[in-house]
Amino acid sequence: MAKPPSKKTGKGDKRSALSPGAREMRVRVKSAKGRSISSNRWLERQLNDPYVAAAREQGFRSRSAFKLIELDDRYEILKKGARVLDLGAAPGGWCQVASERVGAEGSVLGIDLQEIEPIGGVTLMQLDFMSDTAIEEITSALNGKVDVVLSDMAAASVGHKKTDHLRIMALCEAALDFSYDILTEGSAFCAKVLQGGTENEILADMKRHFKSVRHAKPKASRSDSSEMYVLASGFKPFR
Ligand SMILES: C[S@@+](CC[C@H](N)C(=O)[O-])C[C@H]1O[C@@H](n2cnc3c(N)ncnc32)[C@H](O)[C@@H]1O
Repeated sequence: MAKPPSKKTGKGDKRSALSPGAREMRVRVKSAKGRSISSNRWLERQLNDPYVAAAREQGFRSRSAFKLIELDDRYEILKKGARVLDLGAAPGGWCQVASERVGAEGSVLGIDLQEIEPIGGVTLMQLDFMSDTAIEEITSALNGKVDVVLSDMAAASVGHKKTDHLRIMALCEAALDFSYDILTEGSAFCAKVLQGGTENEILADMKRHFKSVRHAKPKASRSDSSEMYVLASGFKPFR
C-alpha cells in the first residue's frame, strides 16, 4: 500500500498531491437498521476514499483541498504574496491550501453561505454571493484588487442534470463578472463547472479577457462526478 504524503513533502514546505495508487484496504459497510442504502453507499465510499483519509491525516478540512493542490501544482496560480478571493469556501480546505501557498505576504478572503470555523491568517465572511449586497460587502472587505479568484461554489444538487448545470453555471458566470472588476493585470480565475464544460458564450468571453483558458479535471475529483474546473490566466483588464 502506497503511503499518502506527509505534511512536509512536495514543493518547498507545501503539502502535496496524493501519490497515484495510494489506497486503503477496502472496507465494507454492513447495512444497519434505520440506515438507507444510499447512506450506506456514502459511508462505504467515504471509508474507502484515500483522499478523505489523507485530508484527515494532513489536517485539511475537506478532500477538495487536494483538487486545488493538483491544479496549482500544474498551473501555478497561487504565487507567493498573492491576494486571493475564495468563493464557496466552506468548510475551508481551499482556504487552507491557498493560505499556505501564498504565504504570510499574501492574503486570503473566504466567502460562503455557511459559517466557517476560523483559519489562521484567513479572513472569512458568511454571505450569499448571489445576494444584492454581496459585491459591495466583498469589495469593501478586500479594500483593493486581487491576484486570484477561486470559485468552488456549488448549489445543492436537485438531482435534475440540466437544472444543476444551469445553477452551477450561474454561479460561475457571477464569479467571473465580479472578477473582471477586481482582478489585477495578468491574474488568474479558477471555477468549478460541470462536464460539457463552460458554456460557449462564457468561454468566448473568458478567451477575450484572459491569455489562456483551459479545462481540467484533477484526479481528486471523483471520476463519477461531472465536475471539472475552468482555469483562466493572464487577465487582460478592460481598457
Ligand atoms: C464544494 S463546497 C466548497 C468546498 C471548499 N472549496 C473546500 O475546500 O472546503 C461548495 C460550497 O459552495 C457554497 N455556496 C454555494 N452557493 C453559494 C453562494 N451563493 N454564496 C456563497 N457560497 C455558496 C456552499 O455553501 C458550499 O459550502
